[in-house]
Amino acid sequence: MPDDFSYFDKIEKALKRVSCFFSFFRIETPIMEDVRIFERGTGMTSEVVQKQIFVVKSRGRKEGVMALRPEMTPGVVRAYVQNGLSYVVLPGKFYYFSPIFRYEQPQHGRFRQFYQIGLEIINTSDSAYDAQVISATVKILEDLRIKGFSIKINSIGCKVCRPSFVKKLKEYYKSNLSKLCRDCVKRYKINPLRMLDCKEEKCQVYKIKAPQTLDHLCVSCKNHFKTVLEYLDEMKVPYLVDSTLVRGLDYYSKTVFEVFVDGFDFALGGGGRYDYLSETLSGPRMGAMGMAMGVERLIEVMKQSQISGLPKIQPKVFLIHMGDQAKKKAMGLMEGFYKEGVNVRESLSKDSLKSQLRQADKEGVQIALILGQREVFEDVIILRDMKSGNQENVALRKVVEEVKRRI
Ligand code: HAM
Repeated sequence: MPDDFSYFDKIEKALKRVSCFFSFFRIETPIMEDVRIFERGTGMTSEVVQKQIFVVKSRGRKEGVMALRPEMTPGVVRAYVQNGLSYVVLPGKFYYFSPIFRYEQPQHGRFRQFYQIGLEIINTSDSAYDAQVISATVKILEDLRIKGFSIKINSIGCKVCRPSFVKKLKEYYKSNLSKLCRDCVKRYKINPLRMLDCKEEKCQVYKIKAPQTLDHLCVSCKNHFKTVLEYLDEMKVPYLVDSTLVRGLDYYSKTVFEVFVDGFDFALGGGGRYDYLSETLSGPRMGAMGMAMGVERLIEVMKQSQISGLPKIQPKVFLIHMGDQAKKKAMGLMEGFYKEGVNVRESLSKDSLKSQLRQADKEGVQIALILGQREVFEDVIILRDMKSGNQENVALRKVVEEVKRRI
């Protein structure tokens, strides 16, 4: 609704400011893409693809082949590869502010259509960019004056070290499977890593003693994570290492992170490295790192923290008319104000002076311009200073100029 756009605009301004500083360029991918981009990219074992993706069927086909995007990352990688940017833009740095669709039970902070802002850095394995994405995320939050946020960070390893970790994890959980929640039993089979971020009460005792990803990283992942933390320390970006953080999308490797705010039970944003995503989409091998934050969630935090949106443009002039002739002249006059870049409020559907003056007063304008039959006849307009109540006649052909001089 219109009132929310003052928040949208403020978030977009912060995103653009930070993106401009770090040289991210705007990207927009199709809202609807081949469903396989997400099945292969986001991943078949992710909840997003298993339960939340909207598959689009046309009347003439039995099978759905397209999907409403449940996130941006696979589409951005596809666009980067398909447009041949992997040869010229190294790394590719993109930002977006885009609508996303997920089949959810709509509730507080959880919608079926929502917006994400996000950053993606594609075609680099350098840990400096992991830190840069996190630093840029923090800068957006600071720009919005959001307080009490925290960044949780972890490393979930790579293709070399993760399989042996997952094996250990399965061994650990095996004997207790009957005591875990239904979701964890399912996760055990299809995505054991996710057992580590189960929120069910009865799984917590097992989670606490579970093997930790950080204790099972290979040398390369260990060094990568160490340098990410060193860069963050150097930039004075605050973070908390959380070895249970694993994220819900299949493509992550090495660094993963999430953003939380005190007093809110949802994650404000999340991201991480996705070094294998391009390959799963039949692209070249390329490291990448990114993040996304939910815009509606950001707005909720801003509203509850009494942070305002961008101030609305407040017109300083209100044009009042009385009678048909005056209405016609008022329409013509507005064209003149438009050409000179002066915003004018009006109430063309009202006729009475009293109600229009009341509205002008409510809008807090500096000047009311009053056109009646007599003024039209004499080619003048009444200029009323709303603060002092003083009124004077100004020639119609000079009124735009006069108003410009006064505001
Ligand atoms: P995600 O964690 O699935 O990551 O979503 C990012 C953010 O989108 C969440 O933290 C949340 O604020 C918001 N969000 C998710 N679902 C909903 C919903 N149903 N209603 C409202 N807001 C929601 C991704 O989507 C990854 N693509 C992030 C990324 C970019 N990783 C690397 N690059």
